[in-house]
Amino acid sequence: MAQEDVFKKLVAHCKEYGYVFPSSEIYDGLSAVYDYGQYGVELKNNIKKYWWDSMVLLHDNIVGLDSAIFMHPTIWKASGHVDAFNDPLIDNKDSKKRYRADVLIEEHMAKFEEKINKEIEKAMERFGDAFDEKKFRETNQRVLANQEKLDEINARFSKAMNATDLQELRQIIIDNEIVCPISGTRNWTEVKQFNLMFSTEFGSTAEGSSKIYLRPETAQGIFVNFLNVQKTGRMKIPFGIAQIGKAFRNEIVARQFIFRMREFEQMEMQFFVQPGSELDWFRHWKEIRMKWHTALGFGDENYRFHDHVKLAHYANAATDIEYKFPFGFKEVEGIHSRTDFDLKQHQQYSGKKMQYFDPERGESYIPYVIETSIGVDRMFLQVISAAYLEEELKKEDGSSDTRVVLRLPSFLAPVKLAVMPLVKKDGLPEIAEKIVHDLKFDFNCQYDDKDSIGRRYRRQDAIGTPYCITIDHQTIDDNTVTIRYRDTMLQERVGITGLKDIIFEKVSIATLLKKL
Ligand code: GAP
Repeated sequence: MAQEDVFKKLVAHCKEYGYVFPSSEIYDGLSAVYDYGQYGVELKNNIKKYWWDSMVLLHDNIVGLDSAIFMHPTIWKASGHVDAFNDPLIDNKDSKKRYRADVLIEEHMAKFEEKINKEIEKAMERFGDAFDEKKFRETNQRVLANQEKLDEINARFSKAMNATDLQELRQIIIDNEIVCPISGTRNWTEVKQFNLMFSTEFGSTAEGSSKIYLRPETAQGIFVNFLNVQKTGRMKIPFGIAQIGKAFRNEIVARQFIFRMREFEQMEMQFFVQPGSELDWFRHWKEIRMKWHTALGFGDENYRFHDHVKLAHYANAATDIEYKFPFGFKEVEGIHSRTDFDLKQHQQYSGKKMQYFDPERGESYIPYVIETSIGVDRMFLQVISAAYLEEELKKEDGSSDTRVVLRLPSFLAPVKLAVMPLVKKDGLPEIAEKIVHDLKFDFNCQYDDKDSIGRRYRRQDAIGTPYCITIDHQTIDDNTVTIRYRDTMLQERVGITGLKDIIFEKVSIATLLKKL
């Protein structure tokens, strides 16, 4: 099945099974805003717990923070967001649709990459094991021609983006005959900068109100509280502050479901270090964060680093951790060495010292900062894309059937355990209810007695429940039940008294954290 179709099915599955709903759906929705349903909220909470515990529990020099969404407007002036948090936009005069000029160009370049990949795939099929991709790329005329075109556009594009040359961006669109996907015409306006921050009025009009912004990142709440936390927690450098919270961006190209949203959540950690040691810490955090991702067991080959060549003016190193989504490798997390830029700016704009006295060095300085920043929603999409599987099952009579299963790591699964009486009589429901009653203090359990046992298993597979317990007539005789494993579909008989220990070992976050 084409990856595009897999993605469409995944989005439909999220809605059908109570994971993600379009926001305000009965009013036809609100673009790029989503609500999390009964299972979605559990998965999201489990992702957040995995991140929080890996930062705050596992590091005795990292503490948490929960800063307000509303902040003094000068913060965004100091951070550079008021002047520079922009996207270059272009309108098509015929369709009246607005696009990000950089995205139009990137999508055009992706077409050349697609053509090259198709040539390689065809050649791979033709030559089998003897295929030498490097040599093929260097010699095949069609690949070379496409690569040359791609490199040419990329060189112009990078230069224009680096120089914020809006006219040149438009010229690249014109020269490459890029058309509006809706009208199919090349009738473009000039390219203009558009600020991504949402603003609102703060205070009543009677006492005068002022314009403030909904935060576009949680990081600034950490920076402005840096000395509060350092002093009250008697923190010594190096130390970190971790925060999870909502962020808002008026994204123009908001597509691919919850990949790019206007309201989303971030998990950010700022790690304060001695100036000069930041690049060692940057490498250290790259390693730690990659391990956090791969520990989930979705296959190391599906992750990669994308080191930034073009660095933001405040950074001296930056990388993205990318995951292979159904629509290609894309950023899940950013790791930046942000120098002392933010603290220095806040010192200048607030007039308050943002320095730390280092007892070991006997001097005061503004620390340097390594930032790890990951979107909760994007991580959710990564997890659910990796977990979603349409599996073909061979039956004994030779025919086949399919099941949709979410192979979520047990700790992340919304429901850990479904408890099912085989029939709704003979005292079996009462035993099932008692098991749920006993275990619900430790795990999210679900009692399910509707439909055939096969249909109940499928329902639990579709929401990703790792374990199903079935109570049958043998249970009455020997106090045993069957436990059925989601991924293998194997079943085994175990005693009711041992259930808690068996499940606990498998779903405990400690098991996952110990891998880090
Ligand atoms: N403080 C640094 C910062 O905000 P960023 O690369 O703009 O850096 C960090 O964002 C992470 O936040 C991204 O890697 C992504 O996971 C998530 N993110 C950013 N914009 C998003 C959006 N519009 N929708 C969903 N997630 C987003």
